[in-house]
This record gives sequence, C-alpha cells and structure tokens, in this order.
Amino acid sequence: MCGVKCITFMLWVYILNVITGENNSKMELTPLSPVIHVGEDLEITCRVTDCPVNVTFTWTSATDKFLNAEIKNEHTVSHLLIRNISVIHSETVVCKSSCEGKPLQKTSKIKIFSFPEDPVLPKIESLIANQEKKLICTVHNIYPLEMFHIEWFRGDKSLHKEELDSKHSDHVQNYSSVFNYTPSVDHLGKNISCKATLDLNHWNKTTTAEYGPGTVTVSSNNTMVKLGDHLEITCHADGNPKPTILWWKLGETEPEQQSQNHKLIISNASWSQAGWYRCNASNNVGSQQMSVNIIVVGPPNIPKIQLSHGGELKEGENLSIFCSSDGGPAELKLYRQSQSAATGVRNDSAVLLNISSIQITDAGIYICEAKNDFGTERSTMNITVKAQHSISRNPDLPVAILPAVGSVSLLTAAGLLIRHCRKQARSNISTIL
Ligand SMILES: *[C@@H]1O[C@H](CO)[C@@H](O)[C@H](O)[C@H]1NC(C)=O
Ligand SMILES: *[C@@H]1O[C@H](CO)[C@@H](O)[C@H](O)[C@H]1NC(C)=O
Ligand SMILES: *[C@@H]1O[C@H](CO)[C@@H](O)[C@H](O)[C@H]1NC(C)=O
Ligand SMILES: *[C@@H]1O[C@H](CO)[C@@H](O)[C@H](O)[C@H]1NC(C)=O
Ligand SMILES: *[C@@H]1O[C@H](CO)[C@@H](O)[C@H](O)[C@H]1NC(C)=O
Ligand SMILES: *[C@@H]1O[C@H](CO)[C@@H](O)[C@H](O)[C@H]1NC(C)=O
Ligand SMILES: *[C@@H]1O[C@H](CO)[C@@H](O)[C@H](O)[C@H]1NC(C)=O
Ligand SMILES: *[C@@H]1O[C@H](CO)[C@@H](O)[C@H](O)[C@H]1NC(C)=O
Ligand SMILES: *[C@@H]1O[C@H](CO)[C@@H](O)[C@H](O)[C@H]1NC(C)=O
Ligand SMILES: *[C@@H]1O[C@H](CO)[C@@H](O)[C@H](O)[C@H]1NC(C)=O
Ligand SMILES: *[C@@H]1O[C@H](CO)[C@@H](O)[C@H](O)[C@H]1NC(C)=O
Ligand SMILES: *[C@@H]1O[C@H](CO)[C@@H](O)[C@H](O)[C@H]1NC(C)=O
Repeated sequence: MCGVKCITFMLWVYILNVITGENNSKMELTPLSPVIHVGEDLEITCRVTDCPVNVTFTWTSATDKFLNAEIKNEHTVSHLLIRNISVIHSETVVCKSSCEGKPLQKTSKIKIFSFPEDPVLPKIESLIANQEKKLICTVHNIYPLEMFHIEWFRGDKSLHKEELDSKHSDHVQNYSSVFNYTPSVDHLGKNISCKATLDLNHWNKTTTAEYGPGTVTVSSNNTMVKLGDHLEITCHADGNPKPTILWWKLGETEPEQQSQNHKLIISNASWSQAGWYRCNASNNVGSQQMSVNIIVVGPPNIPKIQLSHGGELKEGENLSIFCSSDGGPAELKLYRQSQSAATGVRNDSAVLLNISSIQITDAGIYICEAKNDFGTERSTMNITVKAQHSISRNPDLPVAILPAVGSVSLLTAAGLLIRHCRKQARSNISTIL
C-alpha cells in the first residue's frame, strides 16, 4: 500500500519531528546568578519551552538546603521560592527536567550578602593638632567578610585601606577597624570618615565622624581698644557638626549680638565694654571655651565728688568727701587746692576723705583728680564751713550773714561774695520748701 514514495515521506516527517519538535525543547532558568541580601525572598523560575507535553521538575542543590523552600509547578514551569534567605543558601541550585525523554538541566549560582548597616563611629570628644586619637569604625552583620573592606578618609583623600584576608566563613559577622589618627594643624576642620565596601556588589556606606570642638582660637590677641574705637575679634573652632560659636560677656546672661558670625564686635568702645569675654564653641558632642580680656583705654571720665553731709556745714561736724571715677583705670587723688599732697584714702575706683570735727580752716576747694596715660580730669567742690555760734536761718536779714562772714577771717573777699550768694540761694530754697 505504501510505496517507496510513501515511506520516504514518512521518514521525512519523522526527521522533521525530531528536528522541529522534540529537539526544539529548551530550558530557561532565571535568574542565573542572583546576588541577594540576607532576609529577602528569592524566586527562581525554571521554564521548559517548546515541549508539547507537561513535564516534571526536580530541584537539587549540592547540600540539599532547600528542603523548606516552596516549589510550585504549572505545566511546563516550576518556581522555587526561598523566603527569608540566609547565608546557608549561598550555593548552586540545579533545575532538572526532561521533555519526551530529552533531559534538560540548568544551574543557578546564588550569592548571598549581608551589609545592612551604616558603619558605626563613636563620637570623638575632640581632635587636637599633633595629638593621636584612636578611632574605631565598626560594621555589623557583614557577609561574606572576605569580600569586605574598610577605608578611612580625610575629606576625600584616602588615609588607610584595610583589606581583610579572612577565610571563608559561613555566618554573618561584625568587623571593627582601628585607626590611629594624628591630625596636623592644616588637617583640622576636615571631616574624617569611614567607608565600608562590599566588593561583591560594590555596595558601600560611609559614616563621617562627629567630633566636639578641640582648640578654640581667636583672630587677634590684641584686646586693647581706645575709647570710641572699633574692635573685632573672630573666634574659631573645628568640629563636626560645625560648632555654634557665641561670645558672652562675663556676668551677662545673653550672648553678644554680633557673635552669630563668630565675631565679637566692639564699635565705639566705652568703659562699660571692658572686661572678660568668653567665646563658647559648642556642638552636639561637646563645648570648649576661650576667654579674652578686653581692655578699653582712654582719658578718664570726669570723676564724681560727693559729700556725706547735705546742706549747710557747721564747725565741729563730721564730713566725708567721696571721690569716685566710673571710667577706665585711672589714678585717683583727692586733695585740697594749694595742698597738692594727696589726702584721701584710696582704692581702685574711689577716694574717701574723712574730716572729723571740721574747722573753718578746713574750708576751701577740694579737688578730685583722675589721671592716666591718656589724660587727666578733675572735679572740684567748694566746701564752706560756718562758725558754730552764728546760726541763722533768716534769709531776709543780711546782718545775720555778716557776723558769720566776719568770723571766717581766712576767706578771701571774692570767696565771701560767692558764699553770700550761695547762702541766699540755699535759704531761698528752704523758704520755698
Ligand atoms: C537532538 O539534537 C541533539 C543535538 O542537539 C542530538 O545529539 C540528538 O541526537 C537529537 N535527538 C534526536 C532524538 O534526534
Ligand atoms: C497538563 O496538565 C494539566 C493539569 O495539570 C492538564 O489540564 C493539561 O491538559 C495537561 N496538558 C498536557 C499537554 O498534557
Ligand atoms: C529570618 O531568618 C532569621 C534567621 O536566619 C530569623 O532570625 C528571622 O526571624 C527570620 N525572619 C522572618 C521574617 O522569618
Ligand atoms: C555584632 O554586634 C552586635 C551589636 O553589638 C551584637 O549584638 C552581635 O552579637 C554581634 N555579632 C557577632 C557575630 O559578633
Ligand atoms: C562634614 O560632614 C558633614 C556631615 O557629617 C557635612 O555636613 C559637612 O559639610 C562636612 N564638612 C566638610 C568640610 O566636608
Ligand atoms: C558606592 O555606592 C554608590 C551607591 O550607593 C555607588 O553609586 C558608587 O558607585 C559606589 N562606589 C563605589 C566605589 O563602588
Ligand atoms: C594668641 O596667643 C596664643 C598664646 O598666648 C597663641 O597661641 C596664639 O597663636 C596667639 N594668636 C594670635 C592670633 O596671635
Ligand atoms: C560713641 O559713644 C558716645 C558715648 O556713649 C556717644 O556720645 C557718641 O555719640 C558715640 N559715637 C558714635 C559714632 O556712635
Ligand atoms: C557653652 O555652650 C554650651 C551650649 O550652649 C553650654 O552647654 C555650655 O554650658 C556653655 N559653656 C560655657 C562655659 O558657657
Ligand atoms: C564725729 O565722729 C566721731 C567719731 O569719729 C564721733 O565720736 C562724733 O560723735 C561725730 N560727731 C558728729 C557731730 O556726728
Ligand atoms: C572703694 O571704696 C568704695 C567706698 O569705700 C567702695 O564702695 C568700693 O567698692 C571700693 N572699690 C574697690 C575696688 O575696693
Ligand atoms: C569757693 O568759695 C570761696 C569762698 O566762698 C571763694 O573764694 C571761691 O572763689 C569759691 N571757688 C569756687 C570755684 O566756687
């Protein structure tokens, strides 16, 4: 029935079948080399294409660690799902199948890594020029450690690279790098950082060291300013985060206004601006201070002269004369005119002269003098003493003055006149009152 032609045709069909059908079936495995982080889920798909029938799959691994993995098969596809992957899964997986007797097989190499955390650099109290500091950078939960390295940087310059020649380990590890750092003056202010890299996938994380202010410096040690002049002093300190720098005057509760720009600005210097100022540099790690003594120089202020005794002074009464200067440093003298020798008891800012039982001979002009290298200022006080026996409060009778005037024989005529006027003025005031 079937001739030669027929047989040839069937043979061709068979050959075609072999070429196009059976032998066309292939296996696809994805992904082929997954790099996956510990704790994540991994799904590997194994697919047989161009197979006319349903196939069966077998998953194997060198050490059979996939026992608790889920396998889902659908017709010609199989899924291997590994949840919460761990370092034990770091190996080769084989998917096997066959299509109508033709064996199919593919392998996938799983690489597991763990690099979850930023390097930890404890806060450094301070970095001081030419002082060695031991810095420790710790990275937790690394896998695989043999593909890990730590590099220390100052700014973006590499200072030290630490390669690990550890053997293969089968668990997640911590690693600490110790680096002895000695900054030079020029290096202060540059960030120090620790960079951790996993060479497996070039994952890298960098942590910059936080450090407190070390040395506080000021732009000028010349803290002398002339009255009315301008003085600026800039304060500097390194640290990360950048320190906040504020100037405080000793005894004040608020920082100086201009100090936001690290500057202490004294414009139109006055005596009250003299004193100790503290520059406080602080950040979240710590704080450092530096103090400067601002000295205001210039001619003294006009001194003040005061009497313990108000009103009319009578013979035999006690009197204290008080001379004070609220300006800058000055030598104070209190003396009676024409008696140039200092008579007062003095301390830094005041002179006190006590006259017990004052006599008419004590009357006269008292001078308080404040003197320094920049000038001299004086105040005078005309002290008049009234004789004890000539008490009169009647302003309307000039005669009442005369006996008193008569008794003050030492006084000059001019003095008498002025005294008269004063007396009248004083009496007028008491009348009004
Ligand atoms: C399928 O093709 C392979 C070569 O790719 C060959 O070795 C094999 O003999 C073929 N199978 C059949 C049944 O023809
Ligand atoms: C494959 O198996 C499914 C059931 O799992 C069935 O419905 C389908 O007909 C099968 N296909 C072939 C080509 O055998
Ligand atoms: C994942 O596995 C680790 C141990 O390898 C276990 O400690 C952790 O609880 C697991 N996490 C989840 C979500 O199952
Ligand atoms: C790594 O460090 C963490 C935190 O310090 C610690 O809890 C953990 O036990 C350490 N792991 C290893 C493997 O030493
Ligand atoms: C130093 O590092 C901090 C972050 O920690 C950054 O804000 C600052 O700009 C860096 N400073 C320099 C000089 O690079
Ligand atoms: C470090 O990681 C960043 C992404 O976080 C990447 O862009 C960079 O290329 C990596 N650096 C190196 C040296 O591999
Ligand atoms: C200020 O004086 C200190 C020590 O007294 C010195 O170290 C510093 O260099 C001086 N600064 C300037 C700007 O002169
Ligand atoms: C400087 O201060 C003095 C006294 O405080 C004041 O009289 C003077 O006007 C001020 N000068 C300027 C330029 O502010
Ligand atoms: C400096 O400033 C910091 C932060 O404001 C503060 O905690 C510290 O007490 C200050 N130090 C001095 C001496 O004022
Ligand atoms: C004056 O001072 C002396 C002590 O120095 C005292 O004994 C006397 O009573 C005082 N005289 C008057 C009037 O206060
Ligand atoms: C100087 O003496 C006066 C009065 O005797 C006093 O009030 C002042 O505090 C003294 N000053 C100093 C610096 O001792
Ligand atoms: C002080 O008073 C005396 C006598 O009253 C008088 O001679 C003298 O001119 C007065 N001096 C001053 C500066 O007022």
